[in-house]
This record gives sequence, structure tokens and C-alpha cells, in this order.
Amino acid sequence: MPIPDEKVEEVRTAVDLVEVAEDYVQLDQSGSRYMGLCPFHNEDTPSFSVDPEQNLYYCFGCQNGGDAFKFLQEIEGVGFLESVRMLADRYGIPLPEEETDPEATNEREGILHALRFAARFFYRQLTQSDRGRPALDYLRRRGFTPQTIKQFGLGYAPDEWDALLTTAEEEQLDLETLKKAGLVIERNDGSGHYDRYRGRIIFPIFSHIGKVLAFAGRILDPDDERDQPKYINSPETEVYHKKEVLYGLHQAKQAIRRTDEVLLVEGYTDVISLSQAGVGNVVASSGTALTEQQISVLDRYAKRAVMLYDADEAGERAALRGMERVLEAGLGAYAVELPTGSDPDEYVQEHGGDPFSDYVEEHRQDLPSFAYQRARRNGGLETPEDRVDVQREIIESVARIPDPNLRREYVAHTSEVTGVPDSDLFRMLEEEREQLERRAQRRRKREQKRQQRPSEEAAPSAEDGAAPPARSGAPSSTSNSANGTTSGPALLPEEQVLFRLMLENGRRMVGLVLGHMALDEFTEGTPRQLARTFAEMYEAGTVEPQQILGGEHGETLQQLGAAVMMDEHEASEHWAQKEDIPVPHLNDRPYDAARSAMKFLKMDRVDEAIEAVRERMYQATQEGADDQVERLQQKMMSLQELRKGIKRGAFLDD
Ligand code: UTP
Ligand code: MN
Repeated sequence: MPIPDEKVEEVRTAVDLVEVAEDYVQLDQSGSRYMGLCPFHNEDTPSFSVDPEQNLYYCFGCQNGGDAFKFLQEIEGVGFLESVRMLADRYGIPLPEEETDPEATNEREGILHALRFAARFFYRQLTQSDRGRPALDYLRRRGFTPQTIKQFGLGYAPDEWDALLTTAEEEQLDLETLKKAGLVIERNDGSGHYDRYRGRIIFPIFSHIGKVLAFAGRILDPDDERDQPKYINSPETEVYHKKEVLYGLHQAKQAIRRTDEVLLVEGYTDVISLSQAGVGNVVASSGTALTEQQISVLDRYAKRAVMLYDADEAGERAALRGMERVLEAGLGAYAVELPTGSDPDEYVQEHGGDPFSDYVEEHRQDLPSFAYQRARRNGGLETPEDRVDVQREIIESVARIPDPNLRREYVAHTSEVTGVPDSDLFRMLEEEREQLERRAQRRRKREQKRQQRPSEEAAPSAEDGAAPPARSGAPSSTSNSANGTTSGPALLPEEQVLFRLMLENGRRMVGLVLGHMALDEFTEGTPRQLARTFAEMYEAGTVEPQQILGGEHGETLQQLGAAVMMDEHEASEHWAQKEDIPVPHLNDRPYDAARSAMKFLKMDRVDEAIEAVRERMYQATQEGADDQVERLQQKMMSLQELRKGIKRGAFLDD
């Protein structure tokens, strides 16, 4: 349901975008901005910036930009309303009672709504109902405190076919949405629906910002385990992508930040027990091997990952594989094996949090040590062939480390561990690197081919081998960003200033600027579209720059708006030397700044025209077309006149 505009504005002013963005990006202050690695594209040097004054973000690499609502929409894949709700929630701003009408909002939001509803239902069943009593007793017996139960939102699904379904329908939740959320299942014979989770302890799976995405339901009675799976997990849904989610991250992220380190365990109960014992920086990968996507989420918070795995063959293999992926992502990786037959939950319940941390500290191994020791234990070092295999395996992983200095350290260490001279290992490393590089090249080629295929036919065939014309196209037209994903708007600095002034100052400024500029003086494409949008707003009587920054006029304009607002350049840097026109600072005297920006923009346009005439004159002279040369000279003179007039500011007099 729509949220009143005043409420949206109230949320907007309450929000601190730096704080919000820091949930996803490590930001460092730099002047009046905050900079970090962009969460929307892959990069090694920070080009993502947040301006705390304006509450806007912009990435100079991929051009993604906007306000806090836009940021959440992009990063969480939610719609506008949901982004407002999330921020309202976070900043404690009550929104008008939500109507249970998810159909009216988009599907994703409907699903999230249903999941939130279900989580509350399960929690109430566990903590407040008689039928939840045995489950609560069980959790208490395992040592979980009420506070922990609340923190992890644990719940109980009654042992009935439709406990959730009935309540949900009473609350007007739509069946289709419940199904899409993975909460109810259709009967095979099509005669109706039933609850997915029945008679189970519920572990909600939260996104890292605390949205319920899914559930895991654990069986209560261990005797049932023989004919039922211990856990029933949510299916993949529109909001739950198992491969991207880490259980417990929402509760763990502060602790991970604090320690720079994340502990990876296998079970939900391990996460909860450790957290309760004061070891907060712990997550689990929901019963799957650690994926690349999960690691890239962790990368935002942690510098190192420590895998805690069972002391068995499967556990070891998973740990090794996980470490390799973690190293490849540029994080530090360690493995810790727990004493045989003990999982982290048991260990910490028996010994406590501090001894557990000590144990982890003392028993951590890096990849070469871990891999080598494992091979030795498994009898994998008996023959020369075996030994070379293990060496190669280790170097294969080391080769994936992105930082060359770190690779070197790892090779030196591998030499210590294996006793192989490091020169031999470096040779091996080179071979592995070459292989990786070849593989990467092949992938890039395939990628390119795929992208080119449609345009290949359209490309013009080469013309008779003649040299290209001396001056084809505008020289300033294409400065593509390094990653090649998007090219920024080819916007002149003067335009940037004018847009910024209009966005900052609203109606009166728009009147001044557009009263003196023609639309076609703005660069064709997005810039002109933005100018047109201002003109339309002006004509319609209300100029609301916030609409542009809020995305109401489309994403392209929103991004341009954010880019303009975030641009570093003060007008003076660009122009002061160019012509002797005074260039006032934007914030001191905005109207004067606008006037001089208009002058420069107009002069740029005239200069372009002059340049074009000069070119044609040259051509005409070559061809001996004297009358044409004369006409062009006339034209040139009037352009020069025009330029002088502009420089004087004549256009401002009318
Ligand atoms: P565990 O059997 O160790 O369960 O499985 P647990 O969570 O530690 O539970 P307790 O301590 O016995 O009560 C480890 C993880 O493997 C996944 C779950 O993510 C679980 O937390 N798993 C296990 C499933 O997904 N399905 C299953 O049937 C069993
Ligand atoms: Mn366990």
C-alpha cells in the first residue's frame, strides 16, 4: 500500500546513508566523502562514494547512484516501498498500519511479507502457546536462553496440517504468495494445501540485514529421525537463494567486523551456541559447500575465514575446497579440526566460549599445512608420485591467490612444509598461473563472442581500404570506464554544474537556466533528457528535484542526478584558466555560478560550430569553391560575434 509522501520524507531525513551502506561496504573517510569498493561491480580500487551531507551515493566505476532507497533496492533487490519500510524499521519510524494486501505490492515484497508474518507466528507458537511447550523445553534443555531464542527468532511449527495456513488466511494473506514463499505445499491430488513445517523447531534464515528469507525446521523427537529427515529446508524461492545466504550473518556481522575474522561452522545450532557463549563472529552455510557468492558477501565484513569442520574425510575435503575459494577471493583462509566426535555446539556447551576461542586460535592451520598434514594422515605421501601430486595440489590453490606478494609468501611457506626447494615450487606456480591465465582468456573470448554476435552483422563493411577521415566524430565522445560495463554520460563540466545547481536550488534556478538555454544546447542523450525533465516540471508548476534523485523519472536520470551531485569538480578548477570570466563558488553564489556556467556552455557550443565551419572552409578552399568559402567566412564572423556577446553575458540581459 502506498506510504504517504510525508512519511517517505521523514524516513529520508532520518536515514544516514553512510551507516546503511556500511552494512555492505567497508567505507573509509576521504575528505567530506566516504569511499569503498563498489558492491555493484568488481573492482580493486575504491570508486564507490557516499556523500553524508547529501545522503547520496555514486560509483565512479559503474555509474550506479542514487539515494538510500535506491541503494537498498539495488542491493537487496526489493522495490521502492520495501526499501522505505526497511529504512523506517531501522530508524524506528512508525509507518501507518500495514494493510495485509501483498497483492497490491509486487510479488517479492508479498513474499517477504508472508515470511515475516510466518516468523512471528512460529515465534509466538514457541514462546506463548501450550503446544509449543515441549519445543521450548527442548531448547531450554539444550541451554538456549530466552534472549538467544529471541535474537535468532527461533520458533515452533505446530504439529498440524494447517496451523500456519489457517492463521495466514484469517489475516488475508494470499495463498499463491504463501506457496511462493515455500510455506505451504499443494496436495498431490489438488484437493488443497498444507503447511510445509509441522511439529518442528523453526530456525528462520535471515538476510544479512535481517529480513526473513526462509526457514529450516528441525525435528523435535530424535526417535523420529529414522523415518523423517532431521531438517526440512525451504526450497529456493524468489527471495531465497541458498547459494548466496549465510546463516547467522545478520547477528554476526558486527562481531566479524570487529575481529576481521569469520568462523564457518556446519550447523544452525553451532552458530547459535557459539554466539550465546560470546563467540559472535560465526556463520553457517546452510548445509551446502561454501560458495563463491557467499564468500563475496563475507568479503564485505571479514579479512579472514576460519573453517571449522568435522574430523572426517568429507569434512576435510569441504574445508580444503572452501579454503581454496576463500583464498581466491583474496581473503585469508584457515581450517580448524575439532576433536573427533565433537561439534562446535557440543564443545562450547562443555568448555565455554573462551576455551573454544583458544582452541581455534591454537589449532588453526593454513592451506599448505592443512593439506600436507591431511595427505600424510591418509597415507598420501608414500610414493614420489603421491608427493608430487600433493605439492601440485597445494600450488594449484596458491596460484589462485590474487596478490602476487601473498603468493610468494605462500610458496615460501609451502617449501618449508613440504621440504621442496622453493625454486621448484615457483616453477610449478608459473605453470599453474599460465594455465589459469589461458583458461581465463578462453572464457573472456567466449564471453566476447557471445556479446558480439548480434552486432557483427550490423557492423559496416570496411570501405575500400582508404585511410579514415582525419577527424571522425567528436574527440571527447568516448572515454569508456575501465571495466567496460557502462560508459558514463558524455557530459560537459558546465552541464554538470548547471544540473547540480538546478537539483540543489529547485524552481527559481530552473527558471533562470532554462530561460536562457535551449534544450539542444545540452548534450544529446541523457543530459538533454534531464534538461527536458526539468523544463517539463517547470511548466507543470512544481519543480521537485527530489523526484529525480528518488528515481521517479527513471533510473538513467536518477543515476545522472547522483553523478552530478557527487562530482568532485568545483567549477573553478575547470574554467578559471580557460577565459577570464569570474567563476564563483557554487555554494556561495549559486546564481552567479549558474550564469558563468551558462556562458561557458554556450561558448563551448559556439566553439563547436566554429570548428565545424573551419573544417568546411578548408574543404571548400581545397575544392576551389570560392563562393562557398565566402559564405562560410560570413558565417564564421557572425559566430565570432556571437561568442563575444556570450562572453559579455549579453544573453543574460533580456
Ligand atoms: P547436524 O546434523 O550437525 O545438525 O547438521 P545440527 O544443526 O548441528 O543440529 P543438532 O545439533 O544435532 O541439533 C549440520 C547442518 O547440516 C544441515 C543443516 O544445515 C544442519 O544445521 N542439515 C543436516 C540439513 O540441511 N538437513 C539434514 O537433514 C541434516
Ligand atoms: Mn549439532
